[in-house]
Amino acid sequence: MIDLRSDTVTLPTPAMIEAMASAELGDDVFHEDPTVNRLEQLAAEMTGKAAAVFVPSGTMGNLASLLAHAGRGQEVLVGDEAHIYHYEAGGASALGGLVYHPIPTRPDGTLPLDALEAAVRPSGRDYHAAPAGVICLENTHNRCSGAVLAPEYMAEVAALAARHEVPVHLDGARLFNAVVALKRPVTDFTRHVSSVQLCLSKGLAAPAGSLIVGDAGFVDRARRVRKMLGGGMRQVGILAAAGIVALTKMVDRLVEDHAHARLLAEGLARLPGVDLDPAAVQTNIVIFRMPDAERARALWEAAKREGVCVWPFGANRLRAVTHHGITAGDCRAAVEGIARALEQIGSPVAPTSR
Ligand SMILES: Cc1ncc(COP(=O)(O)O)c(C=O)c1O
Repeated sequence: MIDLRSDTVTLPTPAMIEAMASAELGDDVFHEDPTVNRLEQLAAEMTGKAAAVFVPSGTMGNLASLLAHAGRGQEVLVGDEAHIYHYEAGGASALGGLVYHPIPTRPDGTLPLDALEAAVRPSGRDYHAAPAGVICLENTHNRCSGAVLAPEYMAEVAALAARHEVPVHLDGARLFNAVVALKRPVTDFTRHVSSVQLCLSKGLAAPAGSLIVGDAGFVDRARRVRKMLGGGMRQVGILAAAGIVALTKMVDRLVEDHAHARLLAEGLARLPGVDLDPAAVQTNIVIFRMPDAERARALWEAAKREGVCVWPFGANRLRAVTHHGITAGDCRAAVEGIARALEQIGSPVAPTSR
């Protein structure tokens, strides 16, 4: 099976397994796990932030960040295509009493600045509105085909947020994909936000874990929320050891995933009935459209029978993600498998609709 469902299916590398086997351990809730401490220090240094805290997942990293920034009755200004809004079970609302305020997302993953400006409700003496508590960005943007948000755009959001004294949180689950795609230092991105959530278990291939970075006060509050959420783990250096390998050895190779995604996109775009602009693929996520939801579902099923696993991604969309376990040969084979699947379901058909 060529598994293109997600870069979360990556397995730890031999170097990670070796590091895990020999990791020095301690009780991390007492700050006594030297490997976790090393990972947190590394993440803080790389991103130019004062501090970092290791959390079990990206979802918990985002949730702990939002709860550390904002309080009950405050708004989370978030893109209507954001992972935080779509796929994190409404945690900030359910568990923290925050109110999601969705902002329309452009296809390139950005939020229009005028819409954002209009959405910021003041915390002054008009007591009607729920005041803005935090603004969220996502880079790269999952539901927008892995689009990269340029640091210059992030700077504009930062200026807007500063005018209103609202912190900006970055869901940087795949921030290092943006870093290698634009060949810009990670600090070009992180300098514009108050906090970042970085996943180790996507393209970087660690088995689990995320880091959240920010200033010391923020990280201290996030650490308390992590405990509240049950995310205070003990001898978790066993996972942090893999995380150190992820941050030091796995970032540069993300360019291979991007090249493979382009290869895949170019192949898929040539197939009848598939709607896809390969030029829109900037990183490791390829989203393509079928004419309707029924055909998308049929193609998903037929592709599985042909040994290619993609992922249904809403309405008529399917998603394919390249990662450490996928070679150029796999991408070519996947295109062939999907071509056979299209024959099985009887494409081509009427033009696709967006
Ligand atoms: C953009 C983005 N943010 C956050 C997450 C959540 O990460 P986790 O699955 O570790 O909870 C994901 C997971 O796919 C993601 O794509």
